[in-house]
Parts: sequence; C-alpha cells; structure tokens
Amino acid sequence: MIATWPFGKEAVDVGAQAMRDGGTALDGVEQGIRRIEFLSSDGSVGLGGRPNAAGYAQLDACIMNGPNHGGGSVAGMEGIVHPITAARRVMEKTKHVMLVGEGARWFALEQGLKTVDVAKHADLKKKWVERQRDPEPGERGHDTIALLVLDANGDIAGGCSTSGAGGKLPGRVGDAPILGAGLYVDNTVGAAGATGLGENVMRHCASVMIVELMRQGMHPQAACEEVIHRIAARDPLGYDLHVCFIALDKSGRFGAAASSQRFPFAVGTGEKTEIHHVAQVTPR
Ligand code: GLY
Repeated sequence: MIATWPFGKEAVDVGAQAMRDGGTALDGVEQGIRRIEFLSSDGSVGLGGRPNAAGYAQLDACIMNGPNHGGGSVAGMEGIVHPITAARRVMEKTKHVMLVGEGARWFALEQGLKTVDVAKHADLKKKWVERQRDPEPGERGHDTIALLVLDANGDIAGGCSTSGAGGKLPGRVGDAPILGAGLYVDNTVGAAGATGLGENVMRHCASVMIVELMRQGMHPQAACEEVIHRIAARDPLGYDLHVCFIALDKSGRFGAAASSQRFPFAVGTGEKTEIHHVAQVTPR
C-alpha cells in the first residue's frame, strides 16, 4: 500500500486492518481514506478541509477497482462526511461514473451517507485565511489523500479524496475526482495517484501517463519522475508545478516523485508502515 503525505500512514494502517479483517483491496482503499476524511485534521481533506472562496468546503473524491476496471467519482459535493464512500456507491450502485454538485449530494443522501450542516462549518474560511498568514511547517504542501493498494490476490485498487485548493471558486473541480488525472488503476499493470495543484495534473492526464509508462516496463519510480520531466518540458510553468505522484506496480514495486518540494509518503506491507521521502525532481 502506498499513500500520499504523512497522514497516509494512518490511511495505510486502517486500510491494512480492513484487509486483515477479510476485505479486498477496494475495502482497504475505502476504509483507509474514510479515516482521513473523518479526522479531517490536516486541513485539506474532508469537511474540515480548505473552504472555497465562498467559505465552505466542496469535496472531490474518486475510486477505482482493478478487477472489473470499475470507477466512481463525486465532485464539488457539499456536506457529506465521506466522499470516498459516495464515489464507491456511484461505482457500485449506478450505471454512471461521476456525479457532481447537488446531484452528488442528493445521491449520497439517498444512499444514507452521513451529512452535516455546512453552515456549522462557516468559521472554517476564517480559520483557513488565518492559517495562510502563519502556516504551520509543511501545511501548504498537504493536499489530497491518494491511496493505492495491491492485495494478496494480486488485485489493485486506488482512491483519492480532497477538499481541493483553498479559496477556489465555487464549482471548481480539481484532479482528484478525474479518472486518469488524479488517479488511475489498471489491474494488469499497476496504479498511480496524484496530489498537489490539480490544474497542473489534470491538464496532463498524469496518472494514466504513469501507468502507461509502467506498462512499457518502467519501474514506478522512473515512471513518476519521467512524467514530471514530460510535463515540465511542455508546460509554461516548467518544474514550478507543485505536483507530486505515487505509483505501485503489479509486482509490488513502488515509486514517488515531486516537482517542486520534498515529498513525504507512506508505504505499508501489511506488517509495518513507514514514511519515505523523495527530494524534488531536478531538471535533466
Ligand atoms: N489536488 C487537489 C486539487 O487540486 O484539487
């Protein structure tokens, strides 16, 4: 299992427990991400995440299941505690892949998912604005929880969840709920996930590109780095992208890369979970 940021350790540990309890890779992904959404302590995931310009959180999430190449996602959804579960329900209970805004919220409520009154979170904007004036170390870097899981059967699943960029325009959707951008899973090859500034991920369909490079034989580490080089080569921003990637292949090899900062991520084998770091990729 591999997950973004230090909070990924908690996601990996909870996901591993779900699988020890008999769950599949998909269960591991859902349970691990639910934990981070519940904690919502990082300020970038769940209803306690970064509010938009109007002062409330609009949440994005997606999930993919390798064995049937299933996918589900929700975007711009308000007031639902567990967007990752809403995304899984879209995948499993509808004939659609993506629901947005009020439709996503309506569906989640129909499914009986837990909700809260968004008005109660109105003080979040004030707190977030204050935090930007004096951010805690590393706070600006924290963003999407992306979690990739390979289970004992060799099946792969992945998911991600975020409140997106702080101060975004209401209705802005980032990379996290876009299959192929913030997440991609191919059960025959591996999976990749992204965190960072969504606009710079989704313009390049980064996750599917990483998986395709792995299909051609690249190690996940090399594939993540190669995609940063490729994006930087064609993007006016160069390496100033503020994006980070994780990847996991079918044989359990993993990798991670970041464009503009040192990037911590969590890796778990089921027995132990450790935080690893990669330095930012330097121009070649
Ligand atoms: N990576 C999350 C976002 O930009 O919304």
